[in-house]
Amino acid sequence: MKDEQTPTIGRLAVIGAGTMGETLIAALLDAGRVDAGAIVATAKHGRRLARLRERFGVATSRDNRQAAQGADVVLLAVKPQVAPAVLAELAPDLGPQQLLISIVAGLTTARMESLIGEGVPVARAMPNTPSRIRCGMTAVCGGRWAEERHTELARQLFASTGRCLVLDEKYFDAVTGLSASGPAFLYIVIEALAEGGVKVGLPRTVATELAAQTCLGAARMVLDTGHHPALLKDEVTTPAGCTMDGILTLEEGGLRVTLIKAVVEATRRARELVED
Ligand SMILES: NC(=O)c1ccc[n+]([C@@H]2O[C@H](COP(=O)([O-])OP(=O)(O)OC[C@H]3O[C@@H](n4cnc5c(N)ncnc54)[C@H](OP(=O)(O)O)[C@@H]3O)[C@@H](O)[C@H]2O)c1
Repeated sequence: MKDEQTPTIGRLAVIGAGTMGETLIAALLDAGRVDAGAIVATAKHGRRLARLRERFGVATSRDNRQAAQGADVVLLAVKPQVAPAVLAELAPDLGPQQLLISIVAGLTTARMESLIGEGVPVARAMPNTPSRIRCGMTAVCGGRWAEERHTELARQLFASTGRCLVLDEKYFDAVTGLSASGPAFLYIVIEALAEGGVKVGLPRTVATELAAQTCLGAARMVLDTGHHPALLKDEVTTPAGCTMDGILTLEEGGLRVTLIKAVVEATRRARELVED
């Protein structure tokens, strides 16, 4: 749905329009932030380019440099392992009038700036996969040459995929370990809760729906009420009731410490990604 308050962003080049790039194109088109005719998407293989043309009616190319030339916003969405080479390739075509936004995990704004020319405004974003259903969580930050308007533009773009926070870059590995990796952790939690339901006799589809909607409801309670999760947990936990027995089992099984360690380990790995 087009939001008349927010103007379109001009020409957009999506360099490496895979899963995340495609998600972003879909969200921006839905929000009316960009016209299909103003998008060029690149990828490595013809099959992917054909899918993008068919789904969105956007122009596609295998030539990253050509795509970036004349774009107002260049969105870098390739895998971390190829990102430095792609940025070095793009360098001659990027200038101060453009905004380069990268969603590449582990790629710092300083590293990006070292690979491209001086004065090019750079923003870094870390989205997650629920962006696909506009329920994403993204953090954005600006680099050395980015003014507030650039960071704000990046924030607005990602707000079309869900929530978006402007955060200091020092938090980005942590954001990667928590909200970018987090959906995978929570799918396991949902799957395990559903298995519990199956174990006590629920049909699997029913158990999965109960588990998923319960997680969604609990998440909405935290966000909408602003209450501390511990307070909300206490509301469910009647003295000598069944929830307390379940919580005791979770604590014995180390769920809390396991989730903490999962975020710590994913954060540690995020620091290594682009160096690989
Ligand atoms: N998935 C997540 O949850 C998530 C969350 C936050 C950030 N990210 C970041 O988002 C980025 C993309 O992830 P993804 O899951 O969307 O990966 P993906 O689906 O593999 O997409 C990467 C795309 O890059 C294309 N590509 C490869 N080499 C290229 C080159 N030299 N020039 C232009 N395009 C090239 C690939 O083309 P082909 O399809 O034709 O091979 C592919 O479409 C990663 O850097 C990741 O760190 C991902």
